[in-house]
Amino acid sequence: MAHIIDGKAISQQIKDELKEEAARLKEAGKTACLAVIQVGKDPASSVYVNNKKKACAYIGIESLSYELEETVSEEELLSLIRDLNGNPAVNGILVQLPLPAHIDEFKVIQTISPEKDVDGFHEKNVGALNTGGKGFVSCTPAGIIQLLKRSGISTAGKHCVVIGRSNIVGKPAAALMLRENATVTICHSRTQNLKEMTRQADILIVAMGRPKAIDADYVKDGAVVIDVGIHRMENGKLCGDVDYASVEPKASYITPVPGGVGPMTIAMLMENCMSAIR
Ligand code: GUN
Repeated sequence: MAHIIDGKAISQQIKDELKEEAARLKEAGKTACLAVIQVGKDPASSVYVNNKKKACAYIGIESLSYELEETVSEEELLSLIRDLNGNPAVNGILVQLPLPAHIDEFKVIQTISPEKDVDGFHEKNVGALNTGGKGFVSCTPAGIIQLLKRSGISTAGKHCVVIGRSNIVGKPAAALMLRENATVTICHSRTQNLKEMTRQADILIVAMGRPKAIDADYVKDGAVVIDVGIHRMENGKLCGDVDYASVEPKASYITPVPGGVGPMTIAMLMENCMSAIR
């Protein structure tokens, strides 16, 4: 029987800590302000953006909302970002991804000032993470570290296997675990003998984007299992990349879906916004 890591409770704890800090900083005349840009009306993106704005309101962070048409030109979007870069009242800028195909995502991210890149996607922030410098860290992997720390799980010298090599989750998760002194292996879609690799993991971080792909056969007895995936099944329920029913009896700690890693992403975004005015 695994200990279930309650991401909902831990994210609430973080948001309450930030709310107190925001109130203190407000008395000193400082209020954080996040600009959120959404292009088009993708329903999933709208849900994420609304949740981000709600979290800002809860903590006491101002938010500015920019809803651009799906057909907006790349130059118009870049021009808005440049304006926000130069606006001293704005501390954080977030462009919700994915963007329409006619807009170059990489160019958009690199146009955001690294000092306002609260998503931690800019090359300068990615570079800082990988060289031990200061900078914003991608929110989902930062949330995973908080889940481990606040559950009292030690990482030093542990073998951490990360499945997935995306810029948003897999690569920064591996870099952060390395910074936490774990021994890190990154696996991906071209890895041979995935099962042999994952069975060596003391801490297994699964961000492969395939529903219930990891069952008990992939997991060592007593491993800590962190599930980053989220998928809607045909019956309308949510599931992760991990087959929870199969893995839970074998793991020592496990994150559920929903209520595990998911709520941590927004909590860490709020943490990044607050760190921008500290
Ligand atoms: N789309 C999916 N995840 C994210 C995220 O963490 N940040 C942004 N900006 N867009 C996303």
